Amino acid sequence: MSRDESCADVTIHRVGADSVRPLRAAVLRPGSIPGTFTYPDDDAPATGHFAALLGGSITGVVTMLEESCPHRPDLAEPAPRLGAWRLRGMAVDPDLQGRGIGSRLLTRAIAHALDHDARVLWCKARLGAVSFYLHNGWHAFSPAFELAEVDKVGSVRLMRFDLPGAWP
Ligand SMILES: CC(C)(COP(=O)(O)OP(=O)(O)OC[C@H]1O[C@@H](n2cnc3c(N)ncnc32)[C@H](O)[C@@H]1OP(=O)(O)O)[C@@H](O)C(=O)NCCC(=O)NCCS
Repeated sequence: MSRDESCADVTIHRVGADSVRPLRAAVLRPGSIPGTFTYPDDDAPATGHFAALLGGSITGVVTMLEESCPHRPDLAEPAPRLGAWRLRGMAVDPDLQGRGIGSRLLTRAIAHALDHDARVLWCKARLGAVSFYLHNGWHAFSPAFELAEVDKVGSVRLMRFDLPGAWP
């Protein structure tokens, strides 16, 4: 696909955690040992991993998993279903960014959470990606803050996607 072409030939698929980890690591944690960039709930049954495929190659990945927002403990009830879902591991092949692949992955991931009766969608957005989420209808609800050193991410902002009645 040349830089001028759209992502019309890209298809989005639900895949296993093993399929998203290589691109997740390459884009979000370059230099990490292959297979080590995992999330605690990667293998939870409800967790949704999605990949954008083009010609058999994975060009983008994202994960949507059920996790309460630590900065909004008031939204962690009612147990046992949290109703809060976290977007993680959003990454598009650097050569194919800016063609709508990330937006399509985001839409699919949101649909997955809604299929599971999500009440709250949130993420920690790297500062460089905040505009991407804003463009896609998300809202920032925190100032920038530093993540723990182990994440090597730098500053992030908490962002949410509004669902009716979810955010008082
Ligand atoms: C952020 C990312 C996932 C976006 O994916 P993408 O396929 O490039 O995004 P899209 O092409 O769907 O972009 C949709 C819109 O957001 C805008 N946008 C995308 N990334 C942006 C960015 N980093 N900053 C500002 N705007 C951005 C695009 O210009 C586009 O707007 P347009 O439709 O008016 O042209 C991708 O750039 C990426 O993998 N970045 C590096 C890893 C990263 O930061 N991941 C997010 C961690 S929280």
